[in-house]
Amino acid sequence: MYDIKKVRLDFPMLQNKTMQGKPLVFLDNASTTFKPRQVIEAMDKYYLEMNSNSHRGDYDLCYNMDVEVAKARETIAKFINSDVNEVVFTSGDTEAINLVAYGYALEYLKKGDQILISETEHASNVLPWYRICDLTGAKVCFVKLDDKRITVEGVRNAFKDNKSIKLVALAHVGNVLGYEINAKEIASICHKNGALFLLDGAQSVPHMAVDFKDLDVDFLTFSAHKMCGPTGIGCLVGKYVLLQKMATFHTGGGMNVKFNNKQEVIPLDAPAKFEAGTLNLSAIIGFKAAIEYLTNLGMENIHKHDQELFEYAISKLEGYDNIIIYNKDSNSGIIAFNIKGVFAQDEATLLNSKGIAVRSGQHCAKMIDPVIGEPATVRMSTYLYTSKEEIDIFIDNLINGGDILDAYFFN
Ligand code: ALA
Repeated sequence: MYDIKKVRLDFPMLQNKTMQGKPLVFLDNASTTFKPRQVIEAMDKYYLEMNSNSHRGDYDLCYNMDVEVAKARETIAKFINSDVNEVVFTSGDTEAINLVAYGYALEYLKKGDQILISETEHASNVLPWYRICDLTGAKVCFVKLDDKRITVEGVRNAFKDNKSIKLVALAHVGNVLGYEINAKEIASICHKNGALFLLDGAQSVPHMAVDFKDLDVDFLTFSAHKMCGPTGIGCLVGKYVLLQKMATFHTGGGMNVKFNNKQEVIPLDAPAKFEAGTLNLSAIIGFKAAIEYLTNLGMENIHKHDQELFEYAISKLEGYDNIIIYNKDSNSGIIAFNIKGVFAQDEATLLNSKGIAVRSGQHCAKMIDPVIGEPATVRMSTYLYTSKEEIDIFIDNLINGGDILDAYFFN
């Protein structure tokens, strides 16, 4: 395992930061993560020493940027075990899913076809499919959950009853309950039934080793900002043959071989055909630095750290009957909970008054309330730099934090 004290020193946001006059305890890592100096410095270096465009010039600075972008793509490909030309840069996970929606589903789905998702999905893995269904006449259908979980059996049964499913899109790890699905088995079921499988890796790729080839999923999406990287950059990783088959989405400079005045356009091969316009170069460089940082710590260690903190928190909360936890049986760094009789947002506001950052509500998964049986939950989520001391502060404030009215009136 790595040395957590040493790791924390890498993060400027963890150095004597306060919120509401209290030491900051950041437990909203499923939303976004802090960046280590290594990432910030790599991005600064772009602006201070390397500033130029890529793919657009014959001078050294520009050529060097081409090399940097290629290196970043290679780093990402190695990290998730794909081929280099299977990595498409996007602005994040949401754009990556939209790219599959508009580039694949809009092109190949038609009236009568169905897209299988779940009621626990984040908006980014629901709304692009709704839009495509509006445009094509296809329909979204939902996998039957087994006590809040998506199971292999549930997906198998969905195909038994329904021969129209052409695409399945599910989160690898849910952003509210933190449950991991058996992606490899689900991919195999999809393929046996002639459907493609998109795996939303927003909450898995940052926290565990994910192997694109081994899982044999068709598309994998994720964002850099949830894995110590910058905002505004992410990836669609897709099987090359599918990327080649997909229609272009954004068009413009950098994605075409040529075009003429007869409205004929010859796009470049993937991944370039999806990367119109100037790339987010500093972010791409920061993304690479983030992956190098995670790789250095070891994805197994990062996963183990999240799991240990989860088990530690759950064991400390044992016996407090007024704290309702909805995912005790999960194994990620996410705990979804409520305090009996306290509205989730009030609890999050109270914790804020103690310097503790958590998220409350439906966490963009706006169909999850009947699944959990509550209109809203509080969500705490850890990452590689979260310490046991921070978990202690969090739990102490859950138990002895006083009343929400204190947060509103006596602070
Ligand atoms: N997807 C992010 C979350 O779950 C924003 O909070």
